[in-house]
Amino acid sequence: MLTASLTLSPDLVVAPVRRRTFGSFVEHMGRCVYTGIYEPGHPGADEHGFRGDVLALVRELGVTLVRYPGGNFVSGYRWEDGVGPRADRPVRRDLAWRSIETNEFGADEFARWAATAGVEIMYAVNLGTRGVAEALDVHEYLNHPGGTHLSELRRKHASDEPYGVRLWCLGNELDGPWQTGHKTAHEYGRLAAETARALRQAEPDLELVACGSSHSGMPTFGQWESTVLELAYDSVDHISCHAYYEPVDGDVDSFLACAVDMDRFIDSVVATADAVGARLKSRKRISVSFDEWNVWSQRHFTPPTGWASAPRLIEDVYDVTDAVVVGNLLISLLRHSDRVAVACQAQLVNVIAPIRSEPGGPAWRQTIFHPFALTARLARGEVLRVGIGSPTQETGRFGAVPVVDAVATHDAGSGDTVVFVVNRHRSESVALEVPTGAFGAVRVAEAWTVCDADTAATNTAEQPDRVVPRPQDAVVADGSLRTTLAPVSWTVVRFDRR
Ligand code: AHR
Repeated sequence: MLTASLTLSPDLVVAPVRRRTFGSFVEHMGRCVYTGIYEPGHPGADEHGFRGDVLALVRELGVTLVRYPGGNFVSGYRWEDGVGPRADRPVRRDLAWRSIETNEFGADEFARWAATAGVEIMYAVNLGTRGVAEALDVHEYLNHPGGTHLSELRRKHASDEPYGVRLWCLGNELDGPWQTGHKTAHEYGRLAAETARALRQAEPDLELVACGSSHSGMPTFGQWESTVLELAYDSVDHISCHAYYEPVDGDVDSFLACAVDMDRFIDSVVATADAVGARLKSRKRISVSFDEWNVWSQRHFTPPTGWASAPRLIEDVYDVTDAVVVGNLLISLLRHSDRVAVACQAQLVNVIAPIRSEPGGPAWRQTIFHPFALTARLARGEVLRVGIGSPTQETGRFGAVPVVDAVATHDAGSGDTVVFVVNRHRSESVALEVPTGAFGAVRVAEAWTVCDADTAATNTAEQPDRVVPRPQDAVVADGSLRTTLAPVSWTVVRFDRR
């Protein structure tokens, strides 16, 4: 058995926990919308066609914000196709996923669904095949109160009240050659700045996200962020990061440590943004919108050729190892709460998602649902800086990495302190000690773990609760919290004042 310790104090604060850390993503891709959140005719659907079983799971997951409508999809999307009487909506090709888009579901349906789910909308505009004019049009439709052509159309179609969308993505992954309307950093930076300035003319206090790199392995990574921000620094608030992780060539140790990569990715983007700010002599700080992140094991898949409507695309089935990695990625995001303002797990339902659903059938929680739901429920107050005393292990991709990774939150009002911790070792348990003296007399209020003797265990329609969080043995005695972390485990312990 290995040993590790954590050092924490309520005085060592990173930043407040941001509720927008618990965002998600709904793209018109595969079955995320159709037979995911929306399925008229499903026995559990409401009068708007929203699946009640999926909505209940979205609420349980604790999602606070949802990015929409893409993704690669948005770079060829005409938002106006998806509003107005359904019979008049055109059927189109979606080039990104070589699928047929019926446009049965569009911005008004999404706004209604978001209000029902109780989540904030993050809306992405098309800067692939479109530009400033169309971004202004969709803004007028969604946010202008009334008395203009497009706002009156919204009032006629769906809602008297504007939707008040604050957070806008200026396109999606335009550094990627696969993106419809792919651009150079200079072309994109100019377009993002022009679009941002126009949107602010319409509504000055919007929050705007410029596209960063599609992933940190892009050949243009770093230079892209630098050039885009040189051109758009004063006009935008956030720069995006996207990252998907998978075990490469069976290297599970590196996969289990991929939060190291997320840490470095965030630190590099923050350093690049701050360097641009310094060059521009600006006191403004750009923050990170990590608006696509997850485990995605079939990343190198071939898009379909059949032009089907809502085909089954990248419906990854997640196992226990994936859940531990997702829990660790949330630890990394929380640890960076001083600079990561928004994070969206991609995606919400069916497409690389914590929630699965079958047409006409059940919906269930994948393994990765559990660390997300527990983190969203328990992270409250302020994020604490945690000192980690841990043995290390060698990994192929990242060299020597700590076996244990952790973050903590503390809510001064309730007195709750919560420790989120992973054991990345595949065969050794870890005896963990966390001195609690800085918090006074405390006791364990609840403790959960996600682990299994079979790390390949999954949840399925037939066995939806094969993998669930289990109560974890944890005690506070002699001024320390003590618990034993199983191999490949994600654990959370909440302690409160006695
Ligand atoms: O989430 C799936 C896809 O991954 C998104 O459409 C795209 O932005 C990213 O490459």
